[in-house]
Amino acid sequence: MSQESPAQRFETLPETEADDSAEAPVKGRKNGLYPGVSDELAELMTTGWADTEMHDLEPVEQAPLAAARREALSHRFPGERLVVPAGNLRTRSNDTEYPFRASCDYVYLTGDQTRDGVLVLEPSESGGHDTVAYLLPRSNRDNGEFWLDGQGELWVGRRRSLSESSRLLGLPCRDVRRLAEELRSAPPVPTRIVRGHDAELEKVVAELVGPADAEERDQELKQVLDEMRLVKDEWEVAQLQKAVDSTVRGFHDVVAVLDQARATSERYIEGTFFLRARVEGNDVGYGTIAASGAHACTLHWTRNDGPVNPGDLLLLDAGVETDTLYTADVTRTLPVSGTFTDIQRKVYDAVYEAQEAGIAAVKPGAAYRDFHDAAQRVLAEKLVEWGLVEGPVERVLELGLQRRYTLHGTGHMLGLDVHDCATARRESYADGTLEPGMVLTVEPGLYFQSNDLTVPAEYRGIGVRIEDDILVTLDGNRNLSAALPRRSDEVEEWLAATRG
Ligand code: GLY
Ligand code: MN
Ligand code: MN
Repeated sequence: MSQESPAQRFETLPETEADDSAEAPVKGRKNGLYPGVSDELAELMTTGWADTEMHDLEPVEQAPLAAARREALSHRFPGERLVVPAGNLRTRSNDTEYPFRASCDYVYLTGDQTRDGVLVLEPSESGGHDTVAYLLPRSNRDNGEFWLDGQGELWVGRRRSLSESSRLLGLPCRDVRRLAEELRSAPPVPTRIVRGHDAELEKVVAELVGPADAEERDQELKQVLDEMRLVKDEWEVAQLQKAVDSTVRGFHDVVAVLDQARATSERYIEGTFFLRARVEGNDVGYGTIAASGAHACTLHWTRNDGPVNPGDLLLLDAGVETDTLYTADVTRTLPVSGTFTDIQRKVYDAVYEAQEAGIAAVKPGAAYRDFHDAAQRVLAEKLVEWGLVEGPVERVLELGLQRRYTLHGTGHMLGLDVHDCATARRESYADGTLEPGMVLTVEPGLYFQSNDLTVPAEYRGIGVRIEDDILVTLDGNRNLSAALPRRSDEVEEWLAATRG
């Protein structure tokens, strides 16, 4: 047991509070008397624990980048308080929770991923903002929280002390359980919160700001953050490349088990990819789509409960999310038996050609829509050529008739979110211009539903999508997922080589 006093135990940075968890509530129990626990045991559990404070922590790699982002955000909202929550645990069932995944904006601005964390930018008298990360401190030992609460450290693992977090993040840190009270007693200044992650905190902020145009103002904060995130810095690009590289390995894993998968199911494919995601990253960045046969025509087929049969095309849309929470988003459509049939190849090659046209249109200064238009034009031309849609092509494109079979947009921004920066204003995103540092997917597809009477029977049940992750560079683009075979003959060679 440490002989130091609490004050000595927690070496504090000037602005960071020592951990003081005396108020920590213990759900469902009264402090001092725990049902089924003798006072002797309760006393025993409070003592005999070594001090584990880590004094030599270096800031996380992205700390200076996060500081620069906070500074940029501060300039956008002078004199206003900004509240950016990480989010809370969500119940899955009874006393089990979904795995926690911190909100993207919180991660972007702090480099932290702690549940219940809240970043607050408080307007300062000198003009800018004082920034504080509000976090849960260490579990309290005096009131039994650490071993009697299901979220105590003995159950779910050690939390960082506020001092440790402060060193890691390069930020002053305070006890998040005091945040509501501090907000209520703080000077009344305009306050905005990023919504959708911390319902309790939103209520507190609502008390402070009143209903007048609060939603609109909060949306503006979110929109500014999404627009800041549109262009990735070098560190972010490296994270995305890392996500893609793991994803490429995950696709190789799947190809290596295709023979076994054939005997089992799409779940086997999903599970195989997931192993790579959990070993090399945090998770998958979105629900894996392992769609064999006609399931490939269901865009977000994540049930993955079907068989993988010889002769099927397997559409696998999957991405590893790194431990820093950047995700890849890659799709390959693979002939399970090793070679495409003639009709499968015809459809696949058309999608490949459309993707090539799309990727070629990704360059700085191009309109964001250009790559979509280029890919859609190729697909419309093919559909007219095959007699599936009545031409001319210009008419098809004008009326959007090809969309019966192309179904979705040709891509989206990629980053901390798989569909990144979705609330950016149209003029900065969908109607905007590509800039170096943007990363987007190019993912055309053709889908002929199994009950689609507008196409000959041979097309029905074929779904093909090819998706790559493309970085806009100073003079064009770089395909981050180029390591994964894409052309139909390359795909066949890959399958043959991997299966031996
Ligand atoms: N995986 C979803 C998408 O490609 O957008
Ligand atoms: Mn995808
Ligand atoms: Mn995508």
